[in-house]
Amino acid sequence: MQVRASSQPQHSTVSGSLQQQPLSPSNPAQHSASQPVLEARNISKTYRQAGKDGIITDALSHITFSVARGEFVGIMGPSGSGKSTLLNCISTIDEPSSGQVLIDGTDIVGMNARQLSTFRRDKLGFVFQDSNLLDTLTCYENIALTLTIKHTPAHDIDTRIHAFAQRLNVAQVLDKYPYQISGGQKQRIAAVRATIGNPQLILADEPTGALDSKSAAQLLQTFESMNNMGSTILMVTHDPVSASYCQRIVFLKDGVVEQELTRSSDDRSAFYAQIVKSSAEIEGGIA
Ligand SMILES: Nc1ncnc2c1ncn2[C@@H]1O[C@H](COP(=O)(O)OP(=O)(O)OP(=O)(O)O)[C@@H](O)[C@H]1O
Ligand SMILES: [Mg+2]
Repeated sequence: MQVRASSQPQHSTVSGSLQQQPLSPSNPAQHSASQPVLEARNISKTYRQAGKDGIITDALSHITFSVARGEFVGIMGPSGSGKSTLLNCISTIDEPSSGQVLIDGTDIVGMNARQLSTFRRDKLGFVFQDSNLLDTLTCYENIALTLTIKHTPAHDIDTRIHAFAQRLNVAQVLDKYPYQISGGQKQRIAAVRATIGNPQLILADEPTGALDSKSAAQLLQTFESMNNMGSTILMVTHDPVSASYCQRIVFLKDGVVEQELTRSSDDRSAFYAQIVKSSAEIEGGIA
């Protein structure tokens, strides 16, 4: 991340041909096993504060990386390095200043609000730090809502929810309301809700941030199970333990990709040690 006065020159933008390819019938999503689920191409994000001499912040500078189908990838980096900004640009919550974000082969940059809302519903699943469950609905109903808005038949909804809840170990709380269950259980219900509609990509921003270590481990095991069932997951975290559940980590520093680490074996503790070492190097000695 760089901060400068608005009179200073800005990063050059990528060429017009790399920008603004809205979803249209002539640009359908292509499905191919070899095609990455996510391709971030040369993404930059500049925030400008209002006013003639407003501060300009380069939160992201020319970020390029991809996530393959079936991967579980973590994004790490010091506070202010651009993790949430990157996730927001990928999740359609925010728009990059330049660059392309291809999800399932479709560039989401430049889509209008209606296209984005349909795209989010059909292609993406979300898990935030706060589970965002609706308190007036049971856990079952919270999950069902995701399928109802996709017009899934009621019988299929029931079969699917019970199957997922069994496999992801939350069947015992389906009939409870969110205020009747623990924070960890809420996050696991939110994880089931994110994956139940078979999205192309699940995005999680610090999903274990408000959990104790035991509940965090249970949520990460849920993520592992979802990943084993075929979900592709991109998770922002500052916690090396959470990150060690991933297969690959993309480290950001000052808005650029500083390093990537790939897990070479099933040994999670060895990957954890590598992550701690890289974090310490990137943060200048603070793990
Ligand atoms: N809406 C905004 N307006 C102006 N600057 C912003 C805005 N959002 C983020 N920034 C700046 O962009 C940079 C990246 O912020 P971001 O929230 O992406 O960091 P982060 O890596 O998620 O940090 P943390 O670990 O603390 O959550 C920071 O310098 C931040 O102050
Ligand atoms: Mg953040």
